[in-house]
Amino acid sequence: MSLNMQKEIHLANRPEGMPTNNDFRFVESEVPSPNDKQVLVRTLYLSVDPYMRGRMQDVKSYIAPFELDKVIVGGVVAEVVESKSESFKQGDVVVGTLNWAEYSVADENTIRKIDPKVAPVTTHLGILGMPGLTAYFGLLDIGKPQEGETVVVSGAAGAVGSVVGQIAKLKGARVVGIAGSDKKIDYLKNELGFDAAVNYKKESFADDLAEALPNGVDVYYDNVGGEVTDAVFTHLNRNARIPLCGAISSYNAAGKDVGPRIQSAMIKTSALMKGFTIGDYSSRFPEAAVDLGKWLQQGKLKYEETIVEGFERIPEAFLGLFKGKNLGKQLVKVADPKYADINR
Ligand SMILES: NC(=O)c1ccc[n+]([C@@H]2O[C@H](COP(=O)([O-])OP(=O)(O)OC[C@H]3O[C@@H](n4cnc5c(N)ncnc54)[C@H](OP(=O)(O)O)[C@@H]3O)[C@@H](O)[C@H]2O)c1
Repeated sequence: MSLNMQKEIHLANRPEGMPTNNDFRFVESEVPSPNDKQVLVRTLYLSVDPYMRGRMQDVKSYIAPFELDKVIVGGVVAEVVESKSESFKQGDVVVGTLNWAEYSVADENTIRKIDPKVAPVTTHLGILGMPGLTAYFGLLDIGKPQEGETVVVSGAAGAVGSVVGQIAKLKGARVVGIAGSDKKIDYLKNELGFDAAVNYKKESFADDLAEALPNGVDVYYDNVGGEVTDAVFTHLNRNARIPLCGAISSYNAAGKDVGPRIQSAMIKTSALMKGFTIGDYSSRFPEAAVDLGKWLQQGKLKYEETIVEGFERIPEAFLGLFKGKNLGKQLVKVADPKYADINR
């Protein structure tokens, strides 16, 4: 491959059911050139996120679908290679929604400079980035946990769930996590300090959950939907709050997802369920950034990252989300920096 060529990944098909490697196409293209008020950036770390599965379908949603045979976009940390913007210089580290490509050209107002001295650059795709903000607002604005209440979080050992549980602990709640392996259960209880954690893949899940919830559920932060959520619903307390963050269990469902009717459970408990997307809170990101940054610096929040190395492994990392391969935030390391100093 000549020096001014690069690799990028296109959406080759709209998957039915679980996506496969065949739904992604590796394409060689010319490294683009920036125009006025643009920068050329080189991808260092790339985020794979469950919501991207939704963008692979051509359906009406809160965000436009990916176009077939066009490059996929997602969260990226990159270094500036060439700048035609007064706001950026070569060697700056930036975060933004950029191409699944080795290089991207970005308009100056679509990327944000990050300071590698304050926190590792990868945290801007995880605990200090979109997943951390999602945890913060869904829990505090909708869940409103009170001291002594029981907060249950599903997808608990992932990017969002692990932050939800820790913030709930900071607010004085009793926290119960639900996740899909014994390693994750151990992590939640022994590393993150959850009060209890339950493996939903065990046959004894319903009994284990009941045992973990002697006082019922006041807040259920739902990342997964499906049968896990059905089980939690049988434990709702009066005036329970349910932030509906994600439903990963149904993202690959080929047909319509059908489950128990929840109206009766909600009426009997006067429960409140509210869906949200993180974009709803964009005007309030700064307040969350201050709190998350402070708690991280004070050692009150911990985080884990699962990082696979190599541009070729991006589809594998994405597909792994649906098999529970990640502990904490799943990232792909694409390259070491050439111009930026990220180890200061
Ligand atoms: N509303 C918003 O704005 C917003 C923003 C960000 C994320 N989200 C949603 O929040 C959820 C978590 O996102 P994340 O980035 O933190 O992902 P993540 O939890 O880091 O990774 C996905 C995890 O989901 C679990 N999972 C996969 N298939 C499952 C199934 N069939 N049933 C139950 N659990 C399953 C796996 O863990 P196990 O090993 O435990 O199965 C996997 O590790 C997703 O549903 C995502 O779409 C919503």
